[in-house]
Amino acid sequence: MKSRDIRQSFLDFFERKKHTIVRSAPVIPAEDPTLLFTNAGMNQFKDVFLDKGSRPYTRAADTQKCIRASGKHNDLEDVGRDTYHHTFFEMLGNWSFGDYYKKEAIVWAWELFTEVWKLPKERLYATVYNDDDESLEIWKTQTDIDPDHVMKFGEKDNFWEMGETGPCGPCSEIHIDLTDDFSGKDLVNADDHRVIELWNLVFIQYNRKSDGSLDPLPKKHVDTGMGFERVTAVLQGKSSNYDTDVFTPLFEAIKGITGVSYRSTLDREQDIAMRVIADHARTLAFAITDGAVPGNEGRGYVLRRILRRAVRYARKLDCHQPMLYRLVAVIAETMGDVFPELKKQQDTVQKIIRSEEESFLLTLDRGIEIFGEITAALKAAEKRVVKGEDAFRLYDTYGFPLDLTRLMADEEGLAVDEEGFEQCMREQKERARKDRRDKQQIAEEAGEWRWLKKKEPTVFVGYETLDSQAHVIGVRIAGGRMQLVLNRTPFYAESGGQVGDRGSIEGERHVVEIIDTLKDGETIVHVAGKVLDRGTGKEIEPENIELKAPVPVRATVDRETREATERNHTATHLLHAALRNVLGEHVQQKGSLVGPERLRFDFSHFEKVTDRELEAVEAEVNERIREAGELVKHADVPYEEALQKGALAFFGDKYADHVRIVEVPGVSMELCGGTHASNVGKIGLFKITSESSIASGIRRIEAITGKAAEELLWGEYQELQQVRQMLKTAGEESVAGRVQELLEERKTLDKELQDMRLSLLLDKALHRLEEADVINGCKLFVMKPDNAGADTLRSLGQFLREKIGRGVGLLAGEQNGKVTLVGFAGDEAISDCGLNAGELVKKAAAEVQGGGGGKPGFATAGGRNPGGIPDAIKVFKEAVREKLKG
Ligand code: ALA
Repeated sequence: MKSRDIRQSFLDFFERKKHTIVRSAPVIPAEDPTLLFTNAGMNQFKDVFLDKGSRPYTRAADTQKCIRASGKHNDLEDVGRDTYHHTFFEMLGNWSFGDYYKKEAIVWAWELFTEVWKLPKERLYATVYNDDDESLEIWKTQTDIDPDHVMKFGEKDNFWEMGETGPCGPCSEIHIDLTDDFSGKDLVNADDHRVIELWNLVFIQYNRKSDGSLDPLPKKHVDTGMGFERVTAVLQGKSSNYDTDVFTPLFEAIKGITGVSYRSTLDREQDIAMRVIADHARTLAFAITDGAVPGNEGRGYVLRRILRRAVRYARKLDCHQPMLYRLVAVIAETMGDVFPELKKQQDTVQKIIRSEEESFLLTLDRGIEIFGEITAALKAAEKRVVKGEDAFRLYDTYGFPLDLTRLMADEEGLAVDEEGFEQCMREQKERARKDRRDKQQIAEEAGEWRWLKKKEPTVFVGYETLDSQAHVIGVRIAGGRMQLVLNRTPFYAESGGQVGDRGSIEGERHVVEIIDTLKDGETIVHVAGKVLDRGTGKEIEPENIELKAPVPVRATVDRETREATERNHTATHLLHAALRNVLGEHVQQKGSLVGPERLRFDFSHFEKVTDRELEAVEAEVNERIREAGELVKHADVPYEEALQKGALAFFGDKYADHVRIVEVPGVSMELCGGTHASNVGKIGLFKITSESSIASGIRRIEAITGKAAEELLWGEYQELQQVRQMLKTAGEESVAGRVQELLEERKTLDKELQDMRLSLLLDKALHRLEEADVINGCKLFVMKPDNAGADTLRSLGQFLREKIGRGVGLLAGEQNGKVTLVGFAGDEAISDCGLNAGELVKKAAAEVQGGGGGKPGFATAGGRNPGGIPDAIKVFKEAVREKLKG
């Protein structure tokens, strides 16, 4: 049976048992902060188990894309070394949501295995949880399994949990004995490839809370998971998952790239490497297809580690080029019918993987070299542990994830001081933290709040108005500044990248300038600048203000800065949409800062955004601005509904039950709590000012809008006009063309000037040559021209060598702090007097902290110490005299 038929027969079987066949959820869970990757089929039904959500069916089955490379379920280190673990795999599963329970789950599993797939009963074992006698009985009475093949195990093997928290319960597993002589009974749950688990039937009954306790759930559920690659191997009569048709096309492709054939041994280095590469390529292809990007944190870093591990393994196949990206096409080709998203995203995924590979290959060789030096030194000193700081240097400078260093150390029989590594990591983070002025910290250093009435959440009215009556209900001094909490406020508190509002709060007696607004839980905190007395107009110390009861005030946001910020915020949404149109759907917001002066937008993209692309993005945003569409804001939309509408939400966005959507109809729809221009046209003008890389795979665009954009362009225009006048370019004539002409003219003039200087120098030198000392019939010539660089001195030297005949010479010069020495000896001086310019220059160069040399006839050296030139000349002369004497 082909793997595709096996998958289908599983789904057909459960369809006959009245299950709804559902799609695999993405392998990147969008809404579960407890998980980096989908790690089991049940993830997408977590809400149903916890009684927080429901589905229109009570029985479901599917094949689920899973990644187990981090967190509670992590198989990364086993991959490649054995034949049945993967970081990416498919999990076939069937579920009951408060519908059938243990009996049906067990009986149907047995039916599918023994009647449909006809697995030999004498090879099957069932395990049950220690105190689950009910399941034990069902196995023994409702199936014809050999009663001796039903075994009890403890919590480690037979109590399944999704993660540190979440749905869980006792489980019953089916294992298969693959030994030749049916002797595998003792190998059940022994981590041995001859007896492996195929199917896990979990009876979900509890919710594990974060304090470790178990809460019984209102209903009982069934959650099963079968390893698709494993069952395929068994049904295809293979002893390794990697020998099935799921993997063979990948090995063929790897052979095509590297010339190495897969031989399916357990320990041949190249076979291990090929398994790792095939496995990791699948993980990367599926994860990136679903929207993840290799990066420096969280899920992105797990992917980066996996990719770098695979690149390192490719070295074992003597492959030094990017190659993983070439496997994406094979995966899309062989699995695209089941997971059509693979084909849809293929181009983007290839590009992302390729660019990651390229960037790591740049430092990999050097890193391997450094690692070699480290291990050689350790071995020489008869030590066995790679120092934490060395592992950290490999990480920080050469991009070696710790697990890669560990793997390489392991191959050399060495360990890594991981605690030391973590310590270096902590120190680096600490340094970074100190560099940042941490608002949190200021808040912590601040004085106690004085509440004039009971503390209550602040009502935010700033979407509708910029001006509101209110009462001051809380006050404190923090970092020498007064901070105020009102019962209601139009001031927007910094969040979602948008800066806090500025403005003023006026009471009967005081006017308080507000310079920033922050969130503190559910209260909004106004940070005061100057506080003025209304009567005298003088500034007063906030400490001197006595407040006893809630004070009536008028809170007014500074309209100009707020509107400038709003223009930038709305422009950020347009920019995001335009980037996705121009660069592709892989563009995702990774960070944003929206203030009155400018906007900054960080997003995932794997290469530099070209000038042409930037131009297209800018043009698109400005076109939207000219269309002047009204913005629509939807408050309080259930999260699910927002996603269904197609609103953009981001990984890392906190999950909230209800969200606000900001929509530019037909252009952009995002979850957003910020404030916006009421009409896109109000932005006026949009201008990108910079594009740069801030981390691998993350780009940053900065831009300005409205008046700031107008001023920038006006300034540039005026300057251009000035240049035009200075150059006297007529109306249509291009300024750039004229400047180009001038630059070329200047280049020609420079060259001419140089030539003239050289010829003057030559004249002078010739003159001096005639007057040079003669020792024992051999000329000794020395010259130190002013402000002369290497090129000039070399030309001069070559010219003089032709003329000097029986003689030797040194030119010494300095330019921009760099010293050049040029030595030369005529042919007769070499043959008759035994003089060697190379040796002489080398000696002299030591005096100018330099080095160099050359042939007996001609030699040059560079140096860093101009002050040593007189000594260099002296040394040269003495050396020549010495030689000629002898
Ligand atoms: N959720 C169960 C597992 O992953 C079936 O093993």
